[in-house]
Amino acid sequence: MFKKFILSIILITPLLSYSQEGLISNTFNRNTTTLNGTWHYIVDPYETGYYNYRFEPYDQLKKKNKSAFYNNYHTDNKLELVEYDFDKSPTLLVPGDWNSQDEKLFYYEGTIWYKRSFDYQLANITNRLFLYFGAVNYKAEVYLNGQKLGVHEGGFTPFNFEVTSIVQPKSNYLVVKVDNKRVKEGIPTINTDWWNYGGITRDVKLIEEPSTFVQDYKIQLKKGDVNSISGYIKLNNLTKQEKVIISIPELKINKTLLVDDDKEVRYEISSKNIQLWSPKSPKLYAVFIKTDQQTLEDKIGFRTIQTSGPDILLNGKNIFLRGISIHEENPMRGSRAYNEADALVLLSWAKELGCNYVRLAHYPHNEYMVHMADKMGLMVWEEIPVYWTVDFSNEKTLNNAENQLTEAITRDKNRASIIIWSMANETPPSETRNHFLIELAELARKLDDTRLISAALEKHNKNGVNIVDDEMGNYIDIVAFNQYTGWYGGSLENAPNAKWNIKFNKPTVISEFGGGALQGLHGTVKERWTEEYQEYLYQQNLKMIEKISNLRGMSPWILADFRSPKRVLPIIQDGWNRKGLISNNGIKKKAFYTLQNFYKKIEKEYE
Ligand code: GCU
Repeated sequence: MFKKFILSIILITPLLSYSQEGLISNTFNRNTTTLNGTWHYIVDPYETGYYNYRFEPYDQLKKKNKSAFYNNYHTDNKLELVEYDFDKSPTLLVPGDWNSQDEKLFYYEGTIWYKRSFDYQLANITNRLFLYFGAVNYKAEVYLNGQKLGVHEGGFTPFNFEVTSIVQPKSNYLVVKVDNKRVKEGIPTINTDWWNYGGITRDVKLIEEPSTFVQDYKIQLKKGDVNSISGYIKLNNLTKQEKVIISIPELKINKTLLVDDDKEVRYEISSKNIQLWSPKSPKLYAVFIKTDQQTLEDKIGFRTIQTSGPDILLNGKNIFLRGISIHEENPMRGSRAYNEADALVLLSWAKELGCNYVRLAHYPHNEYMVHMADKMGLMVWEEIPVYWTVDFSNEKTLNNAENQLTEAITRDKNRASIIIWSMANETPPSETRNHFLIELAELARKLDDTRLISAALEKHNKNGVNIVDDEMGNYIDIVAFNQYTGWYGGSLENAPNAKWNIKFNKPTVISEFGGGALQGLHGTVKERWTEEYQEYLYQQNLKMIEKISNLRGMSPWILADFRSPKRVLPIIQDGWNRKGLISNNGIKKKAFYTLQNFYKKIEKEYE
């Protein structure tokens, strides 16, 4: 046991420099201290605080260098040359993107250094302390009191570092180098149709835990079994055999597990009469995980989700996914959405539209969104930003995508609302691409075998027939594809008679369709950018789509207008993708009601 313990220390130490071995889940219900608020910042386009004039990174040089911004160096000695001072520098709000907070930073892509000081006294000297980030876009290098904690790449998933041995009672200085430069080998890569919001975009908190604590757990129904709860409990730093109790008072469940190994401890609990979670009755149970040192609470729903031939079965019952696609943006604020209030605005609109399902595009949204979906009864498609032409042949890019997928599943696997993990969006079929996506799909199944796997594919046209025969259709459970009849091609008039040939006998979901309209611009159905054109486009597409074989759902593009640097048509777009059914001022366009009426009809059909 001691040898294993030493071994684990040796194993973990280097990993801390690339953070993700010990991601802590369910941080909403832990002993936390927020570090949200105003942080000082320094804009550093030349990365002067990171590289010396020989472009050598300071934090890889032996000798400490006061010019390195992470040292937060100060001097009153008028002779000494120090060319930065965080405390005299302006501030930004955290969480939040920098682009919407300062006009000078609206288009800024590069490095910004954030600094925040804090005092902290452990409640118990045997306790441990972790620093947790909900997300930082895109690459974060984190330093505490001048020591490098590690690096995280990927703008939409959480990461944490242990800081027990570094934190001091007073005047801790936390410095984060945030770089949102787009890179070819990144996930996403350099080209996206959304705003590359930079910054510490989600909550930052300190988490105090006992020396041995419940780091992660899965508590969900066993695949396809409504009477069996199964999963695992993962303890961090086991030094002796521990007793763990899973308690669900409403179900009179009190399951005791004896944990004597550092790995996940699997379990199964049979229970009759579980009230199943569904959009109509989003039942969440209070669940407690108790050890001698802590009690962790969570609110968890139980449901099964499967496919059978062309059908999608929720709790064994045929369903239709009445959906809408959503970007993680508060359109009225014109900035990244990041809190419960933002989630309420976006998901309430989806509910008003008559949705029982939402596609969170194209990256894992903040945790408030999925908790809100649990409570509101909205099924969720969650996706990682393998978007368009990522560098499929690059092993590092695949590792990056796998890491983001692992972080998303670790964070959200206990959310009943999430029914689909999506591996990608509109990626061009090729051997390297297929290999890339197949690897991801296999990893997702290994990490969580209870949910469906999909990806937003594309169709092609041959002799006037729309064809979906992408090889990936063989590796996913839901055959989803984007099609833009009447906007990027194809006639709206003929749409209802369009021919489709979808190669797979699996549930078909239209993951995107739609067209742009400037709210308040009116004209004939033939005039692009008018509300009437968008309304007609929806009417014609819905007539067409209803005839597609195995159709079991859709998530039109998109709930609300969103910022995109690719949309530059003056007066009409001005930096906004106008395919929303709701404008960036929160005003509904005519097509909103077209889809709402269609969903009323579908809801009746599937009752
Ligand atoms: C694509 C893509 C979206 C994009 C949309 C559009 O299909 O998936 O990210 O915004 O089309 O062109 O508006």
